[in-house]
Amino acid sequence: MARIPAHIVDTILSTARIEEVIGEFVNLKRAGSNLKGLSPFTDEKTPSFMVSPAKQIFKCFSTGKGGTVVSFLMEKEHFSYPEALRWLANKYQIAVPEEEQTPEEKEEQSEKESLRIINEFAKSHFKQNLHEHQEGKTIGLSYFQERGYRLETIEKFELGYCLNSGKDLTEHALEKGYKLEYLEKVGLVKSKDDRHFDFFRGRVMFPIHSVTGRVLGFGGRILGNDKKTAKYFNSPESPIYNKSEILYGLYFAKGDIIKYDNCYLVEGYTDVISLYQAGISNVVSSSGTSLTREQIKLMRRYTQNITILYDGDAAGIKASFRGIDLILEEGLNVHVVLFPDGDDPDSYSKKVSTSELEDYIRENTKDFITFKAEMLLSEGTEDPSVRVKLIHDIVSSISLIPDQISRSVYAKEISERFEIDMNVVSQELASNRKKHLLESQRQTPANPDPVVQIRKEPIAQSTTSDKKKKEVYEEFDLIRIMIKYGAYAIEVDKQTEEGNFEPVETSVCELIVYELDRDELTFKNELYNRVYELVRNSLKESVVNKPSFFLRQEDPGIVRLATDIESDPYEISHNWLKQHNIDTKTELENLKVGVINAIYAFKTRRIADQIEILREQLLEAEKNKDNEQVEDLLAQQILLENVKMALANQLGRIILHG
Ligand code: CTP
Ligand code: MN
Repeated sequence: MARIPAHIVDTILSTARIEEVIGEFVNLKRAGSNLKGLSPFTDEKTPSFMVSPAKQIFKCFSTGKGGTVVSFLMEKEHFSYPEALRWLANKYQIAVPEEEQTPEEKEEQSEKESLRIINEFAKSHFKQNLHEHQEGKTIGLSYFQERGYRLETIEKFELGYCLNSGKDLTEHALEKGYKLEYLEKVGLVKSKDDRHFDFFRGRVMFPIHSVTGRVLGFGGRILGNDKKTAKYFNSPESPIYNKSEILYGLYFAKGDIIKYDNCYLVEGYTDVISLYQAGISNVVSSSGTSLTREQIKLMRRYTQNITILYDGDAAGIKASFRGIDLILEEGLNVHVVLFPDGDDPDSYSKKVSTSELEDYIRENTKDFITFKAEMLLSEGTEDPSVRVKLIHDIVSSISLIPDQISRSVYAKEISERFEIDMNVVSQELASNRKKHLLESQRQTPANPDPVVQIRKEPIAQSTTSDKKKKEVYEEFDLIRIMIKYGAYAIEVDKQTEEGNFEPVETSVCELIVYELDRDELTFKNELYNRVYELVRNSLKESVVNKPSFFLRQEDPGIVRLATDIESDPYEISHNWLKQHNIDTKTELENLKVGVINAIYAFKTRRIADQIEILREQLLEAEKNKDNEQVEDLLAQQILLENVKMALANQLGRIILHG
């Protein structure tokens, strides 16, 4: 999607009213200066969801979610940042010119739009055939009805029919003025010399929807069971249809995937529709491709839990083994249900009642270890070599899980279940991990992690957890001040060339950046560092002086932090002012003192950390009787102690004269 010009983003953000937008999703009632309602993120009975029209933020106290109108749309509708902005632009009728696009991009964009419009037309045409055309009714509609689909289901999934004449769609589309080139590009029309015909002739049609409900392609099924032609035709890859990044049914399922925190994954179009009709609505399929990483990432936008529902035949088992590993590797939890050999979820759901289907799924849902164990052991239950192979196999799956804690939980389970020494399991896991690591390094060229790069200094070692908390607090306080008061002007003394001090005006952010840059300090907390980098880069453009600057960022972490700081009524209690028994209401009045204190507290903590590290190195050096090293470290320590004292003195001076 093309970038939205910055001034349009500003217009959108200043026009949109959070209470109006959220009001479309939540029934809001006045509560003092705020609005209150039931959280759309949980099933709560008492309202804990607050919207502040004055601050233009929301806060959900039962889930901790919070942010701006944009973050709300991103959370609720799973939009990307530009998608949320476009949604708002549309609601408030703000034109979004695609002015930053190159002519090539513009052409591409309008081509894509044309392709979507053509698919939309074809979908409507196929639907009309199915419900109104004689051939469609007698052949297509009755086919679906024989398969047990109710009319409401057929309408919901927008099923259709492509007439057998071979030219019905082509002729109608050309008549309407759609370009032949585009009709061919989406695969609806095939051409041979001067003759053009319908690719899907004589098939029932399954439109494939995007997450937002637009038709990206089609699957078309023959009516009988003729073995000579392919049972399904699918739209070819096109600028709008990328098989590996689309899940059939996701548009209908996404809300319930979130609600049930689980996504059922099936193999075919008809499996999705039949389960949906049987009341299992959190279901998608990777129709027409074997499961891809992109598809798993798509599911991960809605849940951490995937349950594979496949055929119990050899192909189904093989596909589930592959699926398990891919899903584990993407860091999600996976369960498996196999249907009796010869049945898929669609055919099985036709044989039993809805409650029997639910029972079957519940009783046959297995975690991946149990599933693999059952499948592999049944091949030669008591044979030790089969057991060895099995355990290797399961450990290999576990080793794909990115999270170390999950890995060790599963390792423990393996050790207990198969009575194998935990050390052996751990060693096997470690060697598998190493292998994967080498493989992935070979595959992907060095991919620099920006988070790691930003951190200039070594992470403080061996601090007690209490000290760590304190450290976070000092970092947090500085960030809090930047977010809350960053644009405020304060007067500080600046040393002139003659050595005198004269007062100059600076902003809070400028002072903090000046002070930290001087000592080459950054934040250890990665999120705080992003805020700091943002401030630093924005100083030159002086945009940081605009109110709600932080709330307008694209980075959801920053927006969340800013919201928490804006909406947490107790934040002030964290402040040093309170510790010094100063009336907290006067923080703004004492701003200069507060800012300078926060800066020195931050620096002092850093030095204390470094002294702590030195002290440990010193102990180590003494133990090793490394005299040279001891002397060197002692000298460093004295130096740092002096800096600490100087800082303390300065701090006292500024408070006194501030
Ligand atoms: N598929 C395909 N092309 C084929 C066969 C299958 O694209 N020639 C895809 C379809 O998306 C299909 C899925 O793979 O839904 C699963 O295939 P299969 O199990 O053979 O079909 P079913 O979904 O069971 O279809 P039906 O119940 O209509 O026979
Ligand atoms: Mn089937």
